[in-house]
Amino acid sequence: MMSEGQTMANRVCLVTGANSGLGRVTAEELSRRGATVVMVARVREKGEKAQSEIKKVTGNQSVGLLCADFTSLESVRKLVEEYKKNYDKLHVLINNAGLVSLQRKLTQNGNETTFQVNYLAPFLLTNLLLDELKASKPSRIVNVSSVAHYSGELDFNDLTMEKGYGVMRAYSESKLALVLFTRELARRLEGSGVKTYSLHPGAVGTNIWSRPAGSFGFIMKIPKLFMRTPKKGAETIIYLATEQGIENQSGEYFDDKRMRKSSEDSYDEEKARKLWEMSMKLCGLEGGAQKKDGDEILAI
Ligand SMILES: NC(=O)c1ccc[n+]([C@@H]2O[C@H](COP(=O)([O-])OP(=O)(O)OC[C@H]3O[C@@H](n4cnc5c(N)ncnc54)[C@H](OP(=O)(O)O)[C@@H]3O)[C@@H](O)[C@H]2O)c1
Repeated sequence: MMSEGQTMANRVCLVTGANSGLGRVTAEELSRRGATVVMVARVREKGEKAQSEIKKVTGNQSVGLLCADFTSLESVRKLVEEYKKNYDKLHVLINNAGLVSLQRKLTQNGNETTFQVNYLAPFLLTNLLLDELKASKPSRIVNVSSVAHYSGELDFNDLTMEKGYGVMRAYSESKLALVLFTRELARRLEGSGVKTYSLHPGAVGTNIWSRPAGSFGFIMKIPKLFMRTPKKGAETIIYLATEQGIENQSGEYFDDKRMRKSSEDSYDEEKARKLWEMSMKLCGLEGGAQKKDGDEILAI
């Protein structure tokens, strides 16, 4: 039973995409274990509904709600401002929000939407919250990737996918970026007390399969009967957020609560460094936007 796991009393956890699917289950389970949970939702009404249900079923009233749409990097920055106004600690950051997009669309920041929502927004969110994570050590960052990352390649010359868009191509690239980011962060955060993990939750029957249609529809036709429940799918997320004894596995990729070998490309340190540098530019962090006297963003 998940509820018999590690207590999370006095821990503050931020969960993105917390109104639905895996994020919703994760937020509820962390609340049940006594954490202060800060839910992030794209749409306020959906967030409020999930927030009040979680308070009701867990009896834990320390469930906050912040809203942000990750198709806007400005919205991510506002989310961080709000967070910092209300909380000074952050023990667990769970980058869970994600989507699949049938068509190629650019965000208002000029990035391909899947890449921005699934990877770039979490990159920015994580960087802007590093002070809080470091100040709260031991702390963790959990990035919800996917087995789809195995088919990602990351074409740095075509991150906006002008040369040929495919739903799975876009999704795989974004999820490979998350695995590379997780490993790069672990290297940069060594000795800081902040650990990082990425994972595949399994094929889980959530709303993510119901949204797109068309050529992606064949996947939607896989009966949810053959998929994991969100409760089962969230187990690895909760494990990585709470389990003691995995601290020396920082940077690693997990599936079914076990460390797994991720794709060849995901171990490419040069690729990870290049991705980091490009992401800093795309997020407007270049030049140390967060730099405070003597350390932080440039130093990690
Ligand atoms: N389900 C699977 O089989 C599976 C497999 C591998 C990996 N994953 C990953 O698991 C994570 C959670 O997905 P899920 O399966 O639980 O799907 P879900 O039920 O659709 O949940 C996705 C969450 O992300 C939020 N989100 C989507 N677009 C957003 C945006 N522009 N800004 C902010 N938030 C946004 C959604 O908000 P709204 O509800 O408002 O849209 C929702 O809260 C995703 O990263 C997904 O890629 C899922």
